[in-house]
Amino acid sequence: MALLQIEQITKEFGGLKALRAVSLHLDEGEIVSLIGPNGAGKTTLFNCITGTMPPDRGSVRFNGEEIVGRPPHEVARRGISRTFQHIRVFGQMSVIENVMVGRDFRGRTGIFSALLRPPRVGREETENRERCLEVLALFGERLLPRLDQPARELSYANRRRLEIARALVSGPKLILLDEPTAGMNPHETQQVVDLIRLICERGGVGPHRSSRPRRENRRRSARRHRGRPDGHRSLHGRAPACSG
Ligand SMILES: Nc1ncnc2c1ncn2[C@@H]1O[C@H](COP(=O)(O)OP(=O)(O)OP(=O)(O)O)[C@@H](O)[C@H]1O
Ligand SMILES: [Mg+2]
Repeated sequence: MALLQIEQITKEFGGLKALRAVSLHLDEGEIVSLIGPNGAGKTTLFNCITGTMPPDRGSVRFNGEEIVGRPPHEVARRGISRTFQHIRVFGQMSVIENVMVGRDFRGRTGIFSALLRPPRVGREETENRERCLEVLALFGERLLPRLDQPARELSYANRRRLEIARALVSGPKLILLDEPTAGMNPHETQQVVDLIRLICERGGVGPHRSSRPRRENRRRSARRHRGRPDGHRSLHGRAPACSG
């Protein structure tokens, strides 16, 4: 069974068909690039998968369960995290706070425990912070020395890294990265590519890592799904997979 199975997703905006019967699947441990020209519908497809914007027709099954119609927080809880093409970080909050937001929905602390602060809350916070630091360490010295700096003061590339870190800390089964290297130079781009490969080979970053051996993960990686396979502008149809 595919980890993600998309069938015949269609999305229209007024008269504009942004997605026309798009189908694709993704297996655990795979890296799939969705490529297409501006306006092809890549972001729209991400929005349809993550519940940000429901498709008009079609099905998205994650781990065998239909997720079309589920709200974004529930999709996230099921193990899909994402980054945004137009960066969404909390500018006033520090780097570590921004990343900790990514673990918020995993916690069991309600409003009363947050006020009364039983020992469990402290333990949860410590564990969350440690987990976030582990993920931030994946970015070398880019973010770790800036833990208490407000996110608005970061460079554009570092804000992108921060978004990726926030997407990783929940230990997702699937991460959707929308133009993760936009605004980065070739060297920085290569670093992000290497990081994505490393995470894939390790089977994730959290306690939910798969037990699949690294070599097998490497073999299953790197597939591209092209928009506009026959000259149409929008993503449509079942595009062939090609090795990347
Ligand atoms: N909320 C919206 N309302 C109306 N039209 C929209 C909306 N979102 C996207 N579109 C249109 O749908 C089409 C697909 O847009 P989308 O942003 O998904 O493309 P994309 O492949 O991500 O492009 P880019 O490479 O520029 O990011 C475009 O023509 C866009 O103008
Ligand atoms: Mg886009």
